[in-house]
Amino acid sequence: MTGRDEYYNRAKQEGYRSRAAYKLQQLDEECGLLSQGDIVVDLGAAPGGWLQVAAQRVGASGKVVGVDLQNVRNLSEDEAGSGDGAAHVETVRGDMTEADTRERVQELVGEGGADTVLSDMAPNMSGEYDLDHARSVHLARQAFETALTVLPAGGDLAVKVFDGRDLDDLKADVDAEFEYVREVRPPASRDASSELYLVAKNRLTAPVRAGDEVVVEVSDEGNEGDGIARVEGYTLFVPGTSVGDRVRVRVDEVKPKFGFAEVVDRDPDE
Ligand SMILES: C[S@@+](CC[C@H](N)C(=O)[O-])C[C@H]1O[C@@H](n2cnc3c(N)ncnc32)[C@H](O)[C@@H]1O
Repeated sequence: MTGRDEYYNRAKQEGYRSRAAYKLQQLDEECGLLSQGDIVVDLGAAPGGWLQVAAQRVGASGKVVGVDLQNVRNLSEDEAGSGDGAAHVETVRGDMTEADTRERVQELVGEGGADTVLSDMAPNMSGEYDLDHARSVHLARQAFETALTVLPAGGDLAVKVFDGRDLDDLKADVDAEFEYVREVRPPASRDASSELYLVAKNRLTAPVRAGDEVVVEVSDEGNEGDGIARVEGYTLFVPGTSVGDRVRVRVDEVKPKFGFAEVVDRDPDE
């Protein structure tokens, strides 16, 4: 039996609308994308395999917003349920390359933002490798832009893209906005397929990035005795400094809620 038959048959037996459901299960198991109570956006949701997996994993306290050019049939209680009741699922029929669809998604997600943005969007295949790659990168960029509008600090993105020459640029742009990004090829993808998923963890909204140099005032002391400086409200731990110091630092590590920096000049105004 080929891999394709295995996942196709499993999907039929286990009540999933598509074999793609197993790709999301595998991405979640490898990268930890879905938790109880999460708000999840699922782009390119039809026929609804990912929607089922996401709904089951976020549970009754979670919410999933699915979007597709095609109509997505409503999930039944069984399809959206995980034992503790069904997740709240909303679907939008629309084109993610259009601003009004993206605005609708923002409205449905609400002010607090989403925990995770997923995209399994794929273009209609022309059979011409470069063209299909370029179209897939374009769709992945729509998902990335959406992630930047709906994810607060700490949110995650997993987006499908076909491998090719523009992948590295896309990956670098995503990397700049998250703590890290990985390329993941789930076993349920077909062997010959060029598809992969960029999984970006922990959205960064900090005003600084690793490598930046800034002059800061140390305003507090942390529990470990490190100095704490704030850059536009963002917390930087600066070892070896005390409250009142004014120093030039180089940012070493940026996490969603705080970062670490080292002193490069103790007298920056000289
Ligand atoms: C591989 S299928 C998704 C399968 C789905 N994840 C599942 O588990 O059932 C790709 C989907 O992307 C959708 N799509 C492609 N371009 C889109 C766009 N611009 N806006 C919204 N959806 C789009 C297609 O209509 C198609 O249903």
